[in-house]
Amino acid sequence: MSQENSNPKTHTDGIVALVTGGTGAIGTMISQSLYNSGFRVVAAYNKGGNHDSALAWQEQQRALGFEIQVAYSDVTDYDSCGVLVQSVHEMYGKIGVLVNNAGITSDSTLKKMTSKQWSNVLETNLNSVFNVTQQVINDMLENKYGRIINISSINGQKGQFGQCNYAAAKAGMHGFTKSLAQETARKGITVNTVSPGYINTSMMQDVPEKVLEQIISQIPVGRLGEADEIARLVAFLAREDSGFITGADISINGGQHMS
Ligand code: CAA
Repeated sequence: MSQENSNPKTHTDGIVALVTGGTGAIGTMISQSLYNSGFRVVAAYNKGGNHDSALAWQEQQRALGFEIQVAYSDVTDYDSCGVLVQSVHEMYGKIGVLVNNAGITSDSTLKKMTSKQWSNVLETNLNSVFNVTQQVINDMLENKYGRIINISSINGQKGQFGQCNYAAAKAGMHGFTKSLAQETARKGITVNTVSPGYINTSMMQDVPEKVLEQIISQIPVGRLGEADEIARLVAFLAREDSGFITGADISINGGQHMS
């Protein structure tokens, strides 16, 4: 049955969105995309404490027409995340959309992996999700509204040679997502995972050329993904009218892994 176009409103104006890893390759596109959707966006950065480079990023965004705030955090540290959340409150108010995007790789076969490689990846990619979300969730519960989007990976779904640490952390994110989605579904909050495949970013520079060629040959669409393709999916999940999608793990991988 055809229906009159009711011109659904997205009601994003004024809602505050925090993106961790917000100045990185995928994070930048997510921040821009949320800005274009009408959110007030804060990009959290680490950059090894290089605040000047974050400010330079902000200037660059401004010159391109994106008015995005920046705020420092060490996502591996609970207290640092508390300071981050507080500074977002002071800049813009309570957070309505949280994108847990910060992440690193430190690839190695398990036989050679050091405990530091294990803990760095687990702390940055998984503990970070607890550290930030736990300090945002009470405001969302109080507001009876929230959108939480966790950026995981195809390799959390299928595993990957050389990534016991990364795959464990990324799979853990989705367990977190499904649990929190159940805890918050009746409170107007959605929690979802986005699992990108291989995306054309600087992270690919660490993958040996031969391995990368082999990976691309396994992608049915025949190419790497682009960061803006991930960003558009995140912006869709962040919309108010995406409220029936929760606890999902959405693959975006060019058909490389169909789960
Ligand atoms: N499957 C089976 N065997 C493999 C293999 C594979 N995919 N890759 C390598 N091997 C074999 C080699 O042929 C070699 O065999 P022999 O010992 O018999 O000669 C052996 O494994 C090499 O083992 P090493 O422990 O010596 O491995 P290495 O030090 O040479 O390098 C590695 C291992 C660092 C993991 C390297 O293979 C690599 O970087 N792989 C890419 C991992 C990857 O895909 N990372 C993704 C990064 S991007 C990302 O993570 C974003 C996202 O979300 C998708």
